[in-house]
Amino acid sequence: MTETLPGADAPNPLDEAAITTAVNQALEAIAATASLEDLKAVRLAHTGEKSPLSLANRQIGKLSKEDKATAGKLMGASRGRVNQALAARTVDLEAENDARILVEETVDVTAAPRRRRAGARHPLSTLQDRVCDIFVGMGWEIAEGPEVESEWFNFDALNFKPDHPAREMQDTFFVEPPEAHLVMRTHTSPVQVRSMLERDLPIYVLCPGKVFRTDELDATHTPVFHQFEGLAIDKNLSMADLLGTLEHFTRQMFGDEASVRLRPNYFPFTEPSAELDIWHPGAKGGPRWIEWGGCGMVNANVLRAAGIDPDVYSGFAFGMGIERALMFRNEVGDMRDMIEGDVRFSEHFGMEI
Ligand code: DAH
Repeated sequence: MTETLPGADAPNPLDEAAITTAVNQALEAIAATASLEDLKAVRLAHTGEKSPLSLANRQIGKLSKEDKATAGKLMGASRGRVNQALAARTVDLEAENDARILVEETVDVTAAPRRRRAGARHPLSTLQDRVCDIFVGMGWEIAEGPEVESEWFNFDALNFKPDHPAREMQDTFFVEPPEAHLVMRTHTSPVQVRSMLERDLPIYVLCPGKVFRTDELDATHTPVFHQFEGLAIDKNLSMADLLGTLEHFTRQMFGDEASVRLRPNYFPFTEPSAELDIWHPGAKGGPRWIEWGGCGMVNANVLRAAGIDPDVYSGFAFGMGIERALMFRNEVGDMRDMIEGDVRFSEHFGMEI
């Protein structure tokens, strides 16, 4: 029985013809590769541990000193040729690969884009922005306050007495625990008081924002809606200033033929107080008066609660609903359409983005 040594079937490293054959086979295989992947396989087959050339190389150690030198030279040159051919083919195939990617992955900048529908700004937001822009144009500032509000700002500081029925005018969401005396603000009027406490006089602020009441959702009510509140505190302000401001604003909103009418009313935080109607020239079914909000001269008790001397300063305030404005300005018949979040509703207002 003949012992099979590892590498026993290896070409003899002194057999020049056999080694040349192995080299030629390797060179042919390298030349025939069509991709970097092919080349990887060829590299393994012809230079890997089990390739004829490696096996032959491993036999050198067993040779006599003299033969070692001869075989070492032959093997070194042979393996060198194969390695050089591999390196050259790698460069070629990489270049081919890069050229192919450039062609295959070309971006056609003239192709029609596939447009992702990003949505549309909600018409309530754009209407609110428009209101803000008109007041900013008159030199007013925008002020904001928290939606979870302390009862004191929402009611007490606005002159709602603890047992006053006016407190029930607004159906309030109370926030637990009751001892915290927090409510979801029922109107934007608490921002009036915050503004008076935080800002230097004179004050001209517009306060837009969300408000909350325990109303059931139907065509004309929603438990979450938006208001904007205006507040001006200065020396010598009168009802005439209030009326002039509202008239200018209304004309900007509804056109030059629009105007304003005040009817006596009651609010705890204004005295005198008025209901605000606007003459809407573009109303559906013809021009008419539309009830829109409340207004009045800031009650002296409210000024005092905010540390302002009512003998030196006076002020006016007003508050209107944004949903209501969208209804009569854009002929939206059902408030539920505004809150369902269907983008087709917003797109209808031409505000696709
Ligand atoms: N806060 C009132 C409401 O929500 C609206 C209002 C009326 C605001 C009169 C005012 C005002 O600033 O002076 O019903």
